[in-house]
Amino acid sequence: MKTVFINCSPKKRFCASAYFLFLQKLFVGGKKVTEKLCTPADHDRILTQIRDAQTVVFGLPLYVDSVPSHVLRFLEKMEAYCIENGLHLRVYCIANNGFIEGKQNEPLMQAFEHFCARAGLEWGGGVGIGGGVMLNVTRILFLVDVGLLLLNTVLSVANTGNLFPKDAWISFGENAALLLYFNLGVLIYLARMGGCIRKGSFSGKKYTRILIPSFVFILFADIFFIIVSLFEGGLFRGWLARKEYEDGNAVRR
Ligand SMILES: Cc1cc2nc3c(=O)[nH]c(=O)nc-3n(C[C@H](O)[C@H](O)[C@H](O)COP(=O)(O)O)c2cc1C
Repeated sequence: MKTVFINCSPKKRFCASAYFLFLQKLFVGGKKVTEKLCTPADHDRILTQIRDAQTVVFGLPLYVDSVPSHVLRFLEKMEAYCIENGLHLRVYCIANNGFIEGKQNEPLMQAFEHFCARAGLEWGGGVGIGGGVMLNVTRILFLVDVGLLLLNTVLSVANTGNLFPKDAWISFGENAALLLYFNLGVLIYLARMGGCIRKGSFSGKKYTRILIPSFVFILFADIFFIIVSLFEGGLFRGWLARKEYEDGNAVRR
């Protein structure tokens, strides 16, 4: 069985879609191919890959409560291609959004459902994930934890000859357990959908989110947004900054 995973985030690196597709691949067997969809230049390459596949899994961000426009362009082309070549693939979808509620991905899921109906494909279902940006950060935090554990182990060996610094391992275990808990909803639903992908069955639409209380999410999201804004040209990403115009479009100098 061949499954093509399509990462539809336009970001070049560190996108949440790549993280969720990585987790999904852990629960899927057979031949796995990963493709990146950013521009029309990617269309033909991806269409060639799906020609002999049985399953396609889209991983994408929610843009303005819907499907990003560069993905819509691809779906139009894929619809024509599948009809022309008589393909009957099974399509699954992992959508993630920045706000906390995964349920916000419902219109996007419906768009994929309608796309499958029009293209003569089988809609397999999907997982909608809220707090995607924050969940994506947890993988960095995990790597930082692993780095700290290694550093503590090296220092412990150098100072006392002890290869197993107990306190460092306890602290690592606590942090790892917390990060795992944040991701638990995602892991459970992706494992469940992985089972359906393997069996070729319908998994339905499931919605989850980072497992933290909303008021904590808002606090951290605000801090994160302010810091990112400062790096991106001032508060609110430079919205309040004085702008110059070129051909009617605002440009930052
Ligand atoms: C143009 C644009 C529109 C967005 N619209 C929404 C939205 O309507 N709702 C939401 O919760 N997040 C929205 N987001 C946030 C993204 O869904 C979020 O950052 C996501 O984690 C990005 O996934 P990626 O890293 O895989 O690209 C938007 C982001 C951008 C850049």
